[in-house]
Amino acid sequence: MTVSTKTRAFQLTEFDYHKISQAPVELGEVGHHDVLVEMKAASLNYRDFLISQGYYNPNLKLPLVPLSDGAGIVTKVGDKVKRFKEGDLVSSTFFQDWCSGSISQAAASSALGGEIGGVLQAERIFPEHGLVKAPAGYTAEQAATLPCAALTAWNALFEAGNLKPGDKVLVLGTGGVSIFALQLAKAAGATVFATSSSDDKLKRVKELGADYVINYKEILDWEKPVLEATDGVGVDYVVEVGGAGTVEKSIKAVRYGGHISMIGVLSGMGGVDPIKLLMKAIRLQGIFVGSREMFENMNAALAANEIKPIIEKTFSVEQVAEAIDYMKAGKHFGKIVLKF
Ligand SMILES: NC(=O)c1ccc[n+]([C@@H]2O[C@H](COP(=O)([O-])OP(=O)(O)OC[C@H]3O[C@@H](n4cnc5c(N)ncnc54)[C@H](OP(=O)(O)O)[C@@H]3O)[C@@H](O)[C@H]2O)c1
Repeated sequence: MTVSTKTRAFQLTEFDYHKISQAPVELGEVGHHDVLVEMKAASLNYRDFLISQGYYNPNLKLPLVPLSDGAGIVTKVGDKVKRFKEGDLVSSTFFQDWCSGSISQAAASSALGGEIGGVLQAERIFPEHGLVKAPAGYTAEQAATLPCAALTAWNALFEAGNLKPGDKVLVLGTGGVSIFALQLAKAAGATVFATSSSDDKLKRVKELGADYVINYKEILDWEKPVLEATDGVGVDYVVEVGGAGTVEKSIKAVRYGGHISMIGVLSGMGGVDPIKLLMKAIRLQGIFVGSREMFENMNAALAANEIKPIIEKTFSVEQVAEAIDYMKAGKHFGKIVLKF
């Protein structure tokens, strides 16, 4: 089956997201196990900013179609494709080749919008194994928010973690990962502690069900109110997106034998004191998004619990640089979406 047309794409040609430009790219052929998707929406992650500036990996091959997270409608399937049919609403998987089990080096090299071309193009061919069906009732914009941030939160709490009703979870800030972690943890019956630099955002996390909220700009030792509210014990899980600037406090805020998911570096990169970890027997787990199987588990949970992503703002795909500026400013709550 041959698709002869080129498709409209956006490309990073140098490490400067203000210079992302439009250029037609060859679509290629829809092979036996491939799926052609008309892209409808994409969403931004902090990684997209890091990649576009060359901070993530200055050796990435350019030009590069950016962004890992997209959703669209299936318009054609190869003759051996079993999991999809025309008209299905699908999301891309962050790691195209991590289907199940533990991550491998090869799977880690299959990330969209980084090691391989991303989703910011009008049509894209994916291998059947690199897509999942969107949760029932989702729009394309909602489905586009899931591949990275939501799956990372899900993996931290329910795959690497084993969250149970009554457990206590600490989420840091109100970006994409943390808001999904809050929504998922609440649906599972957990008590959630949330921090933010903004009182307005703390009002919004309260509305989403956060039980305890702390302004980390006003209360610099924010681990103290967490410990006070847990009778000095600490929380069971920390969804650690801050990195060097927050992890020491996260270690103080977690209980003995508790679980810290190392996810992000929003407050910088740096080391962790091993003594503090071992003296509390903390499980410090690196999280790298998740597999397709985890994504499907999560989508079942999202549908069953009727959880819908929080989308702060939607831009057109042509406004990609403006959207990254907006994300960088950190004023958002939840996800930022681009619409085709
Ligand atoms: N390991 C993985 O697989 C993986 C997957 C996804 C993301 N990440 C990483 O995880 C981090 C979060 O990603 P994201 O997509 O959720 O980012 P995001 O949406 O850009 O999150 C931004 C928010 O983080 C909060 N924040 C910033 N500095 C903070 C600090 N010092 N302490 C507490 N909160 C702080 C702010 O919340 P307030 O405005 O409320 O203060 C800010 O609005 C990034 O470093 C990203 O690269 C890693």
